[in-house]
Amino acid sequence: LEAWLRPKDLAGLRLLVSAGPTREYIDPVRFISNPSSGRMGFAVAEAARDRGAEVVLVAGPTCLEPPWGVEVVRVESALQMRQALLDRYPWAEAVVMAAAVADYRAAQVQKEKEPKAEEEKTLRLVKNPDILEEMGRDKGSRVLVGFAMETQEGLGRAREKLLRKNLDLIVLNYVNREGVGFGSEENEVVLVYKDRSEALPRASKRWIADRILDEVKRLKGGV
Ligand code: CTP
Ligand code: CA
Repeated sequence: LEAWLRPKDLAGLRLLVSAGPTREYIDPVRFISNPSSGRMGFAVAEAARDRGAEVVLVAGPTCLEPPWGVEVVRVESALQMRQALLDRYPWAEAVVMAAAVADYRAAQVQKEKEPKAEEEKTLRLVKNPDILEEMGRDKGSRVLVGFAMETQEGLGRAREKLLRKNLDLIVLNYVNREGVGFGSEENEVVLVYKDRSEALPRASKRWIADRILDEVKRLKGGV
């Protein structure tokens, strides 16, 4: 009911959202990943839907229910996530990239599961493409929002990413804080722009999602 009472202030906005971790398989039963729950990205997708946006959500593996009224594209690896996002990119007017994309994948994926043997083993990794950086190079009039998880020097690193990836806004999370971030219901973030930053109070991911969407709307020039 609450959703219906909300003003449809993003009506018609074509929004592409990514969420969750990626899985980089080493062999058919082993992979490298990270603890992203997908909650922040799902919250953005649901909030945008409730405000009238058309939403496509590209999601890595999560245990969250697919939100109604949102087109969900399920992927596993960073390369699959890249393909799904680039396919939808021409359609999109704004992108909120909340996914925790694995930075590296196995240089070779073993076809078979080998039993463990050696006491020590070296795994060769290769860098994954930076999806947001690619989108930033072909930005057009789109609004691009990134996320950054940092344990230290957050502001400087987030701003460096904002510039390198040609973003309008980067949402900075601190991972070493109690009760916020990965997997939790609440979050505490700083909105980082080229020339300023704004710390938001600790709040539900849904509240933060709505604040991020307020910024998307403002940056679009009032949809
Ligand atoms: N990102 C992406 N593709 C990648 C890695 C990251 O699109 N291969 C996006 C993330 O979804 C996020 C933003 O870039 O929105 C910043 O991610 P982060 O991991 O903080 O930045 P990196 O550039 O990967 O830098 P770092 O070496 O600090 O991990
Ligand atoms: Ca990274």
